[in-house]
Amino acid sequence: MIPDRRGFLKSAAAAGMATFAGLRPLAAADAEIEIDPSQPGPPINPHLYGHFIEHLGGVVYDGIWVGRDSKIPNLDGLRKQFVDDMKRIGAPNLRWPGGCFADAYHWRDGIGAAGKRPRTYHYWEHRMPQGRHAVEGNEFGTHEFMRLCRLVGAEPYLAANVGSGTPQEFHEWVSYCNAPPGTLSLAEERARNGDREPFNVKYWGVGNESWGCGGNMTGGEYATEYRKYIAQVPVYLRPFFVATGPRGHSPDGDVGWTEGFFGGLQGVRGLGVRVDGFALHYYTDFRQTAEDGARFEAKGWYAVLHKGVHIEDVINDHWRIMGKHDPQHRTRFVIDEWGNWYRGGTELGPEYILSQTITLRDALHAAMTFDVFNRHAEKIEMANVAQTINCLHSLFAAVGDKYTRTPAYYTFEMYRPHMAGRRVPMKIDLPDLTVPLPDGPGRLPGLSGSASVRDRSLTVTLTNPSLQDRVVTRIRVSGGGRLREARATVLTHEDMRATNTFERPDEVGLAALAAPVSGDTATVTIPKQAVVAVSLQLV
Ligand code: AHR
Repeated sequence: MIPDRRGFLKSAAAAGMATFAGLRPLAAADAEIEIDPSQPGPPINPHLYGHFIEHLGGVVYDGIWVGRDSKIPNLDGLRKQFVDDMKRIGAPNLRWPGGCFADAYHWRDGIGAAGKRPRTYHYWEHRMPQGRHAVEGNEFGTHEFMRLCRLVGAEPYLAANVGSGTPQEFHEWVSYCNAPPGTLSLAEERARNGDREPFNVKYWGVGNESWGCGGNMTGGEYATEYRKYIAQVPVYLRPFFVATGPRGHSPDGDVGWTEGFFGGLQGVRGLGVRVDGFALHYYTDFRQTAEDGARFEAKGWYAVLHKGVHIEDVINDHWRIMGKHDPQHRTRFVIDEWGNWYRGGTELGPEYILSQTITLRDALHAAMTFDVFNRHAEKIEMANVAQTINCLHSLFAAVGDKYTRTPAYYTFEMYRPHMAGRRVPMKIDLPDLTVPLPDGPGRLPGLSGSASVRDRSLTVTLTNPSLQDRVVTRIRVSGGGRLREARATVLTHEDMRATNTFERPDEVGLAALAAPVSGDTATVTIPKQAVVAVSLQLV
């Protein structure tokens, strides 16, 4: 790495460390941060910290659903440890059943007596190793999913089948989920299957990746399908419809999809076509490269973080296009798939397709992504990590009775206090880093972060991507605010490739970090390759 930071700051950093060891006055700092809690901005929707689970490899089966007769501790067939951990991070929502799986899924296959459900073709069959099959047994269906949501306290977000389904099948699923008891036959059927009360599902995805596995459509063609799907949808509560959005990780950001879709909704005589959410997908996509989840060098570390933060440009580009067709911005983003995607080779086992090793690098990537989401809170209704367990950017790994939280889990825990806060302006005064990337040097922010306020409590999250230098950081509250106290936690490890395994589940975890306060300023020393969350109490 080519250090941009000035030499004298290094000695200031050393002085800053001494502050924590003893009671010396606050030292000069590498980074100056200013936060103004008197200017609260838009609320940060808790749904930004959402989840996605698909019938794919070991995500649902084994990861979440272990079965009622399992020796693994479970709640009616659902892995108890998973439920407990999801509660712990306040998981706000769960998207299901896909992903690509959704556009081949017929919801009726997943209801009724467990032993009588059909075995059906599985979209991911083609990715399974030779001789292995991904037959769908349908043990986990709508009722099991709703029970999981209830136990976790998460809001359900269902993805409907547009690719191989019909508007009628979609409408019947809506009625099955939401019709009040004693009204439609579908409500009675739901009651017979164990749930008298409606599920009150608000979030409905109208297909998934309709430009690819969801139907190979153009944006204009999909606009036609979308209009049909929502035209006569039964309304029990005001639904929030999510239209398929672009493949944001395409080299051109897939702006053509957004133009085509919104263009396809213009000038149509109709009863007012509403698009509440637009499902942008952004994978930090290294599938076609040698980049591996577990074995990487400095260039790979920086390349992943660099490509990760590009999501900010993608958000801005599509928002601009959406604004041309919808100047009031009634449609907001639902970034319902985001995460790192490496070449294969670190799977948990042959059938755990798309699972990969999750390291400290993925935890920092998640933190920088969340800071982007917070900074664009007014544009985003929801976001969902792909995928929560046994998959790409997972928080958990589970095989049989073995289970661990990954480093990425801790990012979710650290960012929890941002949920339902209001974003506040934050200025970071620190030069960018020049970092080595596979195609030559590039730039990364020396620190990236976001801040929010709730009552008298400020949350500041910061990531130091440097593999070399710590950053002594002075966080000053402007607008006349004074600080009572500050508490900080840090997520880091000496080894950039550090991960949690079944044998060493606590290798990467949270630690307390000193954050002394003086007047309107708190000081934290952010180690290299680290995420820090600071909780500041205003007087
Ligand atoms: O998350 C894995 C897959 O990635 C999803 O099924 C699909 O929507 C996307 O291409």
